[in-house]
Amino acid sequence: MPNIQTKKYFHPDFPFFEDGYNFEYATVFTGNKSLIKVTFKEKEFFIEVIKRENDYLIKAEKLTRFSPVFIVQNALNILSTKLNLSLTYSNIQTKKSNLHLEDSSKYLKKIDYFVNNFTSKNPISIEIGFGSGRHLIYQAKLNPNILYIGIEIHKPSIEQVIKQCKLQNIENIIILDYDARIFLELLDSQCVKNIYLHFPVPWDKKPHRRVMSKRFLSECFRVLQKYGRFELRTDSQNYYEFSFDVINSFNNFDIEIRKNYSLGISSKYEDRWKKQEKNIYDIVLKNTNSTFKEKSFQKIEFDDIFDRFLDIKKSFKKTCVRGENSFFNLEAIYPINKYEGILKVTLGSYEKSEHKYIIFKDKKVEYFPNNILPTKDNADAHRLLINYFKKGKDVH
Ligand SMILES: C[S@@+](CC[C@H](N)C(=O)[O-])C[C@H]1O[C@@H](n2cnc3c(N)ncnc32)[C@H](O)[C@@H]1O
Repeated sequence: MPNIQTKKYFHPDFPFFEDGYNFEYATVFTGNKSLIKVTFKEKEFFIEVIKRENDYLIKAEKLTRFSPVFIVQNALNILSTKLNLSLTYSNIQTKKSNLHLEDSSKYLKKIDYFVNNFTSKNPISIEIGFGSGRHLIYQAKLNPNILYIGIEIHKPSIEQVIKQCKLQNIENIIILDYDARIFLELLDSQCVKNIYLHFPVPWDKKPHRRVMSKRFLSECFRVLQKYGRFELRTDSQNYYEFSFDVINSFNNFDIEIRKNYSLGISSKYEDRWKKQEKNIYDIVLKNTNSTFKEKSFQKIEFDDIFDRFLDIKKSFKKTCVRGENSFFNLEAIYPINKYEGILKVTLGSYEKSEHKYIIFKDKKVEYFPNNILPTKDNADAHRLLINYFKKGKDVH
């Protein structure tokens, strides 16, 4: 993480502009910390100034940092030069390197890419937890007219598959590093041809962590076109039986059960189970329902709560409020002046939460560095938070 250290530090006058960087404002020191808001082109981030016992540590703030890292490094350099700081330590490189992740942006998409108006002129298929990617790449080469969205949370697998896509010039795969259970909620209804879930982690001791659930399957049926397919492949008898229980709560589909069926490609896990002579089960569901079920689009807005900041500041304390499926955790406050400031929160569902800042500034309130995803659980958590803000100090 780029950082510089100095014995003495005073904030400069804000705002100031230099080399395309806009240093907009800073929060007052709260505890030992102050945040400086910086904008460069369309990138917005915080620099954090931390007062330590004998010096100051100035660095990229973790939640808002991004790639390429040289943008933040330049900002630290500009601040240091502006204040004529005499540095006791710096790990800032001067050369503009580390564009590695940018190079992957053709394949690797951020979750925000799917939030607003994501469409594809080609049919879409999804593979959840693609691991080594053998099946994903095999399918993509077999069906060049289909766009494959590969979802995986294991970073080394993601990097390996992106490398393969580049080497083989594959044009019809995009990859998302995100929890697949939440991702489906963001997709339009009836836009998907196939959903592959091959060898999901069985989570025998923590079944609530399984990808397969009623809620997940309900979303699968919503996003699948008529005759679209959901394909589960597993070596776990337990997972197979559990999936049947889940499936029993639905109707309007054709079901096909297969045992030790060859797909034409064998994944790394499949090879392992075959060596151990384990049985492999497939459950294939074909959606026969043509009724369109609307995507539950959640509005995440702050209404008119800007004026509440004064009260929030007066009565601020670290708080956790829990709802049925969602929660928020109010973690810190960084005032900018009497009426404006920044809160740090974690919110969302118990399985997947988001870490954000909330900026109260210029009569507006917004999540930073970007809005929370418009999922149902996030919207519930957001509502809990708004109610808490509106009630102010009476509620804890
Ligand atoms: C047992 S491996 C199977 C990999 C691959 N499908 C194969 O057949 O070799 C399960 C994969 O699912 C991924 N995974 C687990 N939960 C996930 C989730 N909620 N969203 C996306 N991927 C997930 C894991 O990181 C892991 O790579």
